[in-house]
Amino acid sequence: MSTKVLEAKNIVRDYHVAGGLFSPSKTVHAVKGVSFSVEKGKTLAIVGESGCGKSTLARIVTMIDPATSGEMFIDGQKMDIAKDALTPEMRRKVQIVFQNPYGSLNPRQKIGDVLAEPLVINTDTPREERRDRAMTMLRKVGLDEKHFNRYPHMFSGGQRQRIAIARALMLNPSLLVLDEPVSALDLSVQAQVLNLLADLQDEFQLTYVFISHDLSVVRYIADDVMVMYFGEAVEYGSRDEVFSSPKHSYTQTLFAATPRADVESIRARLARKAAA
Ligand SMILES: Nc1ncnc2c1ncn2[C@@H]1O[C@H](COP(=O)(O)OP(=O)(O)OP(=O)(O)O)[C@@H](O)[C@H]1O
Ligand SMILES: [Mg+2]
Repeated sequence: MSTKVLEAKNIVRDYHVAGGLFSPSKTVHAVKGVSFSVEKGKTLAIVGESGCGKSTLARIVTMIDPATSGEMFIDGQKMDIAKDALTPEMRRKVQIVFQNPYGSLNPRQKIGDVLAEPLVINTDTPREERRDRAMTMLRKVGLDEKHFNRYPHMFSGGQRQRIAIARALMLNPSLLVLDEPVSALDLSVQAQVLNLLADLQDEFQLTYVFISHDLSVVRYIADDVMVMYFGEAVEYGSRDEVFSSPKHSYTQTLFAATPRADVESIRARLARKAAA
């Protein structure tokens, strides 16, 4: 039996933008009634061009920003996404990883403390156990003990993204939202981080909403794909359906314009390098 970790119905988000001296105030319809769901252990990829509403949707699903209207269920439990009245218990169910983790890592905090912090804020886990759990998570994302006392600036972009992923997983969230998590990384590092995400998903049955504008990444990581265009979902289905027979003219154009440098070939190259 399949279980829906996330179910979102008719999500709408309008932004009211105050006018200036020469411009009247206006309303931006960033998300116009979008519905989707993700089953446990699966990945829904959300694709679309800049400004189509992907990050807006990510912030609503993560409950960082309220929705104008719509309903959302996490593990079957209804979330009050119209208000900011969420309990910490609800909030910790969904975690987010951003494109640039540097912005969300405190430069004066050692990595061990970065990882333990969610436990300090949200739980009364004793110090020793916090340390153990942070250390275990560090290893899970491919880093190790010697990194524990280092500061964020002492890591590469790929390593920092591993740290952001580790931190997001510290509270065992039901859902992980990844907003362009590999877009700022070199191609070979992209493949490593994508492989890490795939391995973690297998090991812990993690559920992802993965936002990207890169179709080769989406083809590699997604089970289902939703294509957005000006705030609407113009395509939504299994990856194979969407890739083999895109129905909407926007999707057809998007696919036609994308070079097919695929992650599989990068992965194969990495494997060959490792073997050599
Ligand atoms: N705080 C805000 N106030 C007003 N308008 C906003 C705000 N945030 C986003 N928007 C507008 O909402 C629309 C959707 O923005 P959003 O950031 O969700 O796009 P996106 O798909 O994530 O784009 P990108 O690929 O560039 O990250 C855009 O027109 C944007 O200008
Ligand atoms: Mg965005």
